[in-house]
Amino acid sequence: MNYVAWDSSMSVGMDVLDSDHKQLIGMFNGLLQKGIADRDRDDLRALLDELTDYTAGHFAREEEAMERGGFPDLESHLAAHRYFTDEIAKLKESFNSSHTVMLRIDLVLLLKDWFIEHIQTVDAQYRPYVHAPTDDMPAGA
Ligand code: FEO
Repeated sequence: MNYVAWDSSMSVGMDVLDSDHKQLIGMFNGLLQKGIADRDRDDLRALLDELTDYTAGHFAREEEAMERGGFPDLESHLAAHRYFTDEIAKLKESFNSSHTVMLRIDLVLLLKDWFIEHIQTVDAQYRPYVHAPTDDMPAGA
């Protein structure tokens, strides 16, 4: 599996959200970089915890921006976020009963097939609707 490189074609037009996406892509690349086979259960547990915390913050920022911008497909996007959150929760729930190799595979596939794909396709749809909060400020403020 190859590393993913963020580039400007993946920009959603809002720095804070681009920064979140870079961080999430960095987590995925970091997972591959160390060598997925060398990730022990403590590593995987820490990564799941980090993903849970980071995506909660990211999704909240992104959902607020979409709502503020009047993005018309908000409900469908929220459902996609709930799906990812539920899948991470399931991985955490199955942590003690799953084989380490299966945890590694499930995590890599979820990040690559769902999250990276989500950034590249689903997140791209709200780009015309979101703007940085400072866009609303009057000139000179
Ligand atoms: Fe950037 Fe919809 O998650």
